[in-house]
Amino acid sequence: MQRMSQSKTPLFDAVKKYVDSKVVPFHVPGHKQGAGLSEFREYIGERAMQMDANGMEELDFANNPTSVIFESEKLLAQAFGAQSAYFLVNGTTAGVQAMIMSACEPGDKIIIPRNAHKSTIGGIILSGVIPVYLQPEVNDKLGIAMGISEDSLKKAIKENPHAKAVFLINPTYYGVVSDLKSLVRIAHRHEMSVLVDEAHGAHMCFHDDFPLTAMEVGADMSAASIHKTAGSMTQSSVLLLRGSMISPEKVKQVLNLTYTTSASYLLMCSLDVARKQLAISGSELLENALNLARMARDEINKIEGLYAFGKELIGTPGVYDFDETKLGINVAGLGFTGYEMETKLRNEYNIQIELSDMCNILAIISIGDSEKSITALINALKDIASKTEIREHKNYHITLQNPRMIVSPRDAFYSPKKKVPLDKSVGEISGEMVMAYPPGIPVICMGERITEEIVDYIKLLKEQKCQMQGTADPFIDYIMVLGSD
Ligand SMILES: Cc1ncc(COP(=O)(O)O)c(C=O)c1O
Repeated sequence: MQRMSQSKTPLFDAVKKYVDSKVVPFHVPGHKQGAGLSEFREYIGERAMQMDANGMEELDFANNPTSVIFESEKLLAQAFGAQSAYFLVNGTTAGVQAMIMSACEPGDKIIIPRNAHKSTIGGIILSGVIPVYLQPEVNDKLGIAMGISEDSLKKAIKENPHAKAVFLINPTYYGVVSDLKSLVRIAHRHEMSVLVDEAHGAHMCFHDDFPLTAMEVGADMSAASIHKTAGSMTQSSVLLLRGSMISPEKVKQVLNLTYTTSASYLLMCSLDVARKQLAISGSELLENALNLARMARDEINKIEGLYAFGKELIGTPGVYDFDETKLGINVAGLGFTGYEMETKLRNEYNIQIELSDMCNILAIISIGDSEKSITALINALKDIASKTEIREHKNYHITLQNPRMIVSPRDAFYSPKKKVPLDKSVGEISGEMVMAYPPGIPVICMGERITEEIVDYIKLLKEQKCQMQGTADPFIDYIMVLGSD
């Protein structure tokens, strides 16, 4: 493939030209460049409303790109080391689902870590595949799941030699990376394609100090949230494809099924410009982010009661490499839960972190951070620690066993269901997913047997005022289970 100049932004240029041409719009969106929604236009700015166009010849069509979107996608593919790239405007969720539907047929088995994001369960239901779950390694001190070991993948392959694909996460929300290269080699040796959820790794191939990406180690597909860590607007992600195990025709067929016919030009232009920035100055920008993350870790680790974990975890079970821009901080030493610390930071210091769990908080450091933002976080944590009498270390280390899958997620999704009080649900088969969001990893998935341990854990999460999702009842006093009244 001929190398193209990464300083180009074909789609962004076309949209700017369209805005400058002052076309009289008789097309949707019906706000007509903002004239029909003046309060919103005044707040967001006229330019943004003018850019909110729809598919037309000079702006290309996201469902069947042949000109400027096609060129921009080609540039993105080259920048990320892929053969093909597809803009996504419904987040990596759409990419995860498209990967599973492209690689597998209904009834195929797919090997998947049990700590995968809920979008994976969506992909499993839509495609009708049968999941074979891998238990990730767990760090008991931190109380979080780590990566996948080679041995656990080998065992799953031995027990399921006809599985069609292996699904991996690179990195996890907390920055943990498995030995992706070896896992890909093992899967390919057994003719299984490798699909990688890189929702949290879109920035990684633009600086040498980051772990290797799916495309760099020869995986077949990956989906990356450019919006999460690489600069574009929320919802804009990319689907990447390489090799010959999955055909571009199949991927296009799948995208044609699920893709909106009204893809946002604002989102797609932000992808175009973010890709240019990453390709041209990503290394420099990420060097700055890494230095800030390193400085934050050093300072936070001087505070008694806090532990900002990082590369020292490499070599412990399930940790082959680590993305340092994920600033996970264990707060159990101060006697707080992560949820309590998140609330404190927000209410008393006006700082919003990305997520919290029973023992940790997670701050994302990115190309948008500065010494000022990092110092604000460090100072807030110092202040909290200085005002806290070191309390007894709370032990919240809950390692749930993989729940037993009784029926496939798809069969459970389409089965009759009834509502039962959570307290009375032990022994039933769940008809819905329950998860803390973020991170969006199901505590229980539809089709799995509800145990007492799971009910107790959901109650604990509720008590901690953790944001829960996935159920019909927003308060999870009730849960849908299989069966009829
Ligand atoms: C591991 C993982 N995969 C996929 C997703 C979905 O990404 P998006 O929000 O871009 O749809 C997320 C979102 O948080 C995630 O954490």
